[in-house]
Amino acid sequence: METISFARGVPAPECIPVHELADCARAAIEEGGAAVLSYGPGGGYAPLRAWIGDRYGVEPERVVVTNGSLQGFVFLAERLAAAKRVLVEAPTYDRPLRILARLGAEVVALPMDEEGLDPDALDRALRDGPAPAFLYTIPTFQNPSGRTLSLERRRRVLDVARRHGLLVVEDDPYGLVSFDAEPPPTLHELAGGEGVVHSSSFSKTIAPGVRVGWFVLPRPLAGELEAMAVSTYITPPFLTQATVFEFLRRGSFELNLERVRGLLRARRDAMLAALERHLATDCRKGWSRPGGGYFVWLDLADDVDAADLLERATAAGVTFVKGADFFPGGEGGTSSARLAYSFVSPAEIEEGVERLAAAVPARVPV
Ligand SMILES: Cc1ncc(COP(=O)(O)O)c(C=O)c1O
Repeated sequence: METISFARGVPAPECIPVHELADCARAAIEEGGAAVLSYGPGGGYAPLRAWIGDRYGVEPERVVVTNGSLQGFVFLAERLAAAKRVLVEAPTYDRPLRILARLGAEVVALPMDEEGLDPDALDRALRDGPAPAFLYTIPTFQNPSGRTLSLERRRRVLDVARRHGLLVVEDDPYGLVSFDAEPPPTLHELAGGEGVVHSSSFSKTIAPGVRVGWFVLPRPLAGELEAMAVSTYITPPFLTQATVFEFLRRGSFELNLERVRGLLRARRDAMLAALERHLATDCRKGWSRPGGGYFVWLDLADDVDAADLLERATAAGVTFVKGADFFPGGEGGTSSARLAYSFVSPAEIEEGVERLAAAVPARVPV
């Protein structure tokens, strides 16, 4: 029996425009010549920086193109967060949690609900403790919960941040991967670019293997990140950045995005329908209904241990990531699971949820 993975938060192979990218890579080398195969400025391939800057209405010097947005987060965290207090919503993306722990940051978890981060809890945390280096948040189609911060809450979060002089780091790799209505404007946009560092990536809209992400920052901080990039890897990989730029220049991006949205929408729909059909047990509490992105967050009854369930599910041929992995110090989410629908086919989703449901204890009262 082949294992079905709801653990892998990566795109299904058919989401990746392989042939078009091969063509773009060839064109990038032929047209860019030695320049795209040489050392160059640490902030990234100039035409791509300009394209991104244009989209955000900022000068290109405020854009730093990094080897995936996670590399940029490492630079930013090293610069601002080492041994400092950092606020995060919980649950949140596990890799930044590990990076912050490695840097000795004190990570403070703020609660969220279906509408996203709770602005009142943010306000309390800012009144109660020492000033944090920043708030790290994923407001749109969040990893791991699939939830989106409502417009009203976005305004309140920004208002609280402004009052306390708090820097907000908005991680937004999924915003363009919407299935239904457009998500609310980004925090960066709502704040007019002030007080918000914004990051995104082509990992979910073109391919993760190109490793092209970016940060939009205030000018001095952008210069510092650029210097960190140079001292870490000398030069960005211009070949992949020029390949991505060629993909954009040809107008392939929007077409591909529509295609990717369709492929993932079918998977999201299959996941929600399968949960409704198979998880009709008294130990389900509920699950998120994402309007985009890769993930559904499943809450089970408090006495269901997600780590035990993962063992039983793995034996039954389906995997997921247990909720505790997305809480600082593993404190929380013990009865929750992140189910990624991005990698598997709709038929595998149906089969995987059936296997998962069979592994959930059926008699636990809610
Ligand atoms: C919220 C979030 N931020 C950042 C990343 C990393 O993106 P990149 O591939 O650009 O490093 C991911 C990837 O899964 C993610 O979910």
